[in-house]
Amino acid sequence: MKIAVLGTGIVGQSVAARLYQLGHQVTVGTRDVEATTAHTEPDRYGNPPFPVWARAHPQVRLATFADAAAEAELVVNATAGDASLAVLQAAGRENLAGKVLLDIANPLDNSQGFPPTLFVKDTDSLGEQIQAAFPDAKVVKALNTMNSALMVEPGLLAGGDHSVFVAGNDAGAKKTVTDLLESFGHRDVIDLGDISTARGAEMLLPIWIRLFGALGTPMFQFKIVR
Ligand SMILES: NC(=O)c1ccc[n+]([C@@H]2O[C@H](COP(=O)([O-])OP(=O)(O)OC[C@H]3O[C@@H](n4cnc5c(N)ncnc54)[C@H](OP(=O)(O)O)[C@@H]3O)[C@@H](O)[C@H]2O)c1
Repeated sequence: MKIAVLGTGIVGQSVAARLYQLGHQVTVGTRDVEATTAHTEPDRYGNPPFPVWARAHPQVRLATFADAAAEAELVVNATAGDASLAVLQAAGRENLAGKVLLDIANPLDNSQGFPPTLFVKDTDSLGEQIQAAFPDAKVVKALNTMNSALMVEPGLLAGGDHSVFVAGNDAGAKKTVTDLLESFGHRDVIDLGDISTARGAEMLLPIWIRLFGALGTPMFQFKIVR
């Protein structure tokens, strides 16, 4: 499949690399190709700058958000939550229409320092805001409840015996995303319901962040026992 991964951070890199490894044709989207190609500093989490990753993945093209989305059959939103609506606007409404939009972003507000709060919650979610802003896209929220390494290689922990959620209005789009997740190695994909159920997945972030602090590692996962 032709897939655009919008986002050059660790999530975009991890998802793009795994999709390419699985045989997909992948383009990564960014604001400014030249500027991103010239980065020399590690990101805010200490990950190497994007060009280091790009050199190791020469078959994955870097393009503007719009160019990446235009040629894709499926689009992944792996951008900062507070920038996601602007990024998708830049990607172009027409380039998202009719396509599955896998939304991994979290609505984190880092403006008051650590720990971040959620800038939308309880009565709305980022997934719903994206669906409302782009009604012709088929938004599916997934993978936002775990560390990027586990998103694409769940077997790194407990043999992959843990849970991932999908939320979205379109059954076909959720099936497409579920198939992708299973191709990554996920074995317990739980369909929460329509896109309003993204509220639940996004509101797991406050507990995820506290677990990160308590455990001292991002390598843990939610497992729903039933
Ligand atoms: N890190 C994790 O393990 C993890 C786990 C679960 C969910 N998430 C979520 O996944 C998303 C990506 O996380 P990340 O850590 O990989 O990267 P990030 O630093 O949150 O986001 C990087 C991307 O956001 C774009 N961006 C940032 N500010 C922007 C602005 N003002 N206007 C337009 N674009 C902007 C950047 O564009 P440029 O390419 O142009 O710089 C870049 O592509 C986030 O929503 C995060 O909450 C992360």
